[in-house]
Amino acid sequence: MDRKKKVVIDCDPGIDDCMALMLCFKHLDVMGITAVGGNTALLLTQRNARHMAVLCGHPEIPVHAGYDQPMFGKTVRAEYAHGSSGLGNVTIPEPEKPLCDGHAVDYLIDVFMHHDDVSLITLGPLTNVAQAILKEPELRKRIPEILCMGGSATAGNFSAAAEFNIYVDPEAARIVFESGIPIKMVGLNLTRQNRILPSDVSEIRAIGNPVSDFAADILDFAAGQDGRCSICDACTVVWFMTDDIITKSAKVRVQVETRGEFTRGMTICDWREYMGTVPSEDISHERQFDGGYPGEPNVEVALEFDQARFKSFLMDTLRSYS
Ligand code: BDR
Ligand code: CA
Repeated sequence: MDRKKKVVIDCDPGIDDCMALMLCFKHLDVMGITAVGGNTALLLTQRNARHMAVLCGHPEIPVHAGYDQPMFGKTVRAEYAHGSSGLGNVTIPEPEKPLCDGHAVDYLIDVFMHHDDVSLITLGPLTNVAQAILKEPELRKRIPEILCMGGSATAGNFSAAAEFNIYVDPEAARIVFESGIPIKMVGLNLTRQNRILPSDVSEIRAIGNPVSDFAADILDFAAGQDGRCSICDACTVVWFMTDDIITKSAKVRVQVETRGEFTRGMTICDWREYMGTVPSEDISHERQFDGGYPGEPNVEVALEFDQARFKSFLMDTLRSYS
């Protein structure tokens, strides 16, 4: 990909959000960052986002704070996975770079109403984006695409059925997934094909620049968790950077469950066409089956991942900060 793609990133840093930002600052044209409460409280996610902009040499990139809590339901955090600061055991001082005035929702509306060539990346709960769509419904036509870390075509993590980002605010996710905006979804079915091991952290530490040192410090916490460290958000953003890391995807209808006793926050992918369980002519005519046919494909779901290629891309990127 020749020209750097222009993006706004909505995120909740978070260890893997930080890893994703390190990739984005090098390979994309980051216009701005909006922070949302998720892995930890907004007070920390917006601070961590500002820290990353400064650390990676982009103090000029605006960071706006958005919503701390979901639209409905109780607030849940993932401090068990990201530490109480959102950065594992790492503590940072207040960044020199101040938070920008103005709510993240107004920033998102302003950017997408005035630019035609900017894409949106979401790495946290979808509260800010849903609230922006509700406040300015024209965004449904103005946002050309969303690359979303969220959901799963198979198992969840926060619950058996639900991935964390969607579980935190399923109503917001539903608004976004049903908005008509084209979505590229990188769910746990994809990101769990990646594992960051203690040996990878040692390789990162050996690089020896301030960005790679910070990466190693925050990953020490996550990679110690029994091979459960996938750095999901970093696996996601590469879809806008290269064509050869996420190697297979499929377009399907995805619906977000908001009411299930065991399935709240689940992303239900309609694979019936691919599984051959329904005749394709019936799918195209939207005939009602037992549970109904939910509509046209709305999401491109990532399916296959080249882990070796991802790791070399990550290492090369971290080296390039030297
Ligand atoms: C997602 O949830 C968060 O904990 C991570 O930052 C990632 O965005 C993975 O389920
Ligand atoms: Ca995240």
